[in-house]
Amino acid sequence: MKLFTKTFGCQMNFADSDEMGRALKSRGFFATEDQDGADAVLVNTCTVRELAEHKAMSYIGRLEEWKSVNPRRLVMVTGCAAERTKETIQRRFPHVDLVVGAIDIEHFPVRLDDLLAAKPPLSAEESSADERLVPPPMALGKSGVIQYVTIMRGCNYACTYCIVPAVRGPEIYRPSGEIMVDIAARVAEGAKEIWLLGQTVNSYRPADRPDYDFSNLLREAAAVPGLGRLRFTSPHPHYLTDKLVAAMRDVPQVCEHLHLPVQSGSDVMLKKMRRNYTRASYLEGLKRLRAAVPGIAITTDLIAGFPGETDADHAATLSLIKEAGFASAYCFKYSPRPGTPAAAMIDDVPQAVKEARVNELLELSDNQGRDHAAALIGTEQEVLVEENKGELGWRGKTRGAWQIRLPAEGVTLGQTVRARVTSAYSRELRGELV
Ligand code: SAH
Ligand code: SF4
Ligand code: F3S
Repeated sequence: MKLFTKTFGCQMNFADSDEMGRALKSRGFFATEDQDGADAVLVNTCTVRELAEHKAMSYIGRLEEWKSVNPRRLVMVTGCAAERTKETIQRRFPHVDLVVGAIDIEHFPVRLDDLLAAKPPLSAEESSADERLVPPPMALGKSGVIQYVTIMRGCNYACTYCIVPAVRGPEIYRPSGEIMVDIAARVAEGAKEIWLLGQTVNSYRPADRPDYDFSNLLREAAAVPGLGRLRFTSPHPHYLTDKLVAAMRDVPQVCEHLHLPVQSGSDVMLKKMRRNYTRASYLEGLKRLRAAVPGIAITTDLIAGFPGETDADHAATLSLIKEAGFASAYCFKYSPRPGTPAAAMIDDVPQAVKEARVNELLELSDNQGRDHAAALIGTEQEVLVEENKGELGWRGKTRGAWQIRLPAEGVTLGQTVRARVTSAYSRELRGELV
């Protein structure tokens, strides 16, 4: 049977799709990139903002027609929006065969077995799966060069705008031994770069090992033979401890990039968002980090138009972009999420103002990012080759997480090469081998 996977949302969701893909694979499913030719579709949904949920729901709606071609086709819906709106999905979309919310993901294999027992899958002859014998890689990292390993689930924070704790539940840490086995398995499959994942990934602190925290995990992971690069997301500023900074300095596989969501540059907003740090303490953390890891690239997430945000609060976020020296920022318009504390606040920033502010944040961070990219021209970088772009050459990333294009000749997939940056187009670098 051929499985088509559509994943919305963050890396955590992609990692979950991968995990479910493995469960499906062991039950005879094979990945396809062609939805029309598939026998089953897995939609892994996101609900972090209204638009994200809306996109997932329209996608599910459109699958009604896909399913009408053959009623034995399967539609499975999982993830964060599924957790939030299980009943609605089942009522609104009778063509959906299985709904498993994000909190229940560990039960996906059991729920899948129930489904397959109730609705016997297509036999090999009936299925259009002609590449049965060659299982292509599943949802994630098409080439497998980069692989994700989830180290914790859920979130114990309660940022007032955020739906994630409600749809993913409280924090659960995986045992470190299990994580090491997973990393080793991914490396054995050919992964050159591992991402450790969690909503507040650096809060990792397993109950059974009192002095062991995320920095210990980084050091232990680095000892897995054959591991090339190590990255992690999303860290929370509150846990940017000296111990973590030291591990980032000491562990050679840990790349010189940190995505450290700040959300706002205004202390008034940070407090209302219940982020548990101030502008000053955030900047102090960056200072310690930059002193230990010179040249590290810092990227972030920003929210525009949170309830009560004034022009002065917005100006503080703009000035923080400069002061923190972000290399890039994901900028979002505040979107009220049902049941969150902020949803009870008056959403008083008009849409047009949110729009204008988010555009200003984007413009400033993009321009600054372009300057950072231009400053890399002439430097030599270590590049992991991630994707073949055919005539366009190869695409890879520097340790600082800059996208870089390399010429078609003399490179292979998954290779780590030295390259000199020759030019920078917008935020993408071009390079030549050295
Ligand atoms: N766990 C991560 C973030 C997870 S959500 C962390 O704490 O850093 C990813 C990003 O979506 C957040 O960083 C935030 O910028 C944005 N986001 C979350 N809820 C939002 C909302 N209601 N409206 C707009 N953006 C939101
Ligand atoms: Fe949401 Fe805050 Fe948890 Fe991040 S730390 S997932 S923003 S509640
Ligand atoms: Fe979306 Fe869930 Fe991730 S809401 S951003 S897929 S944790």
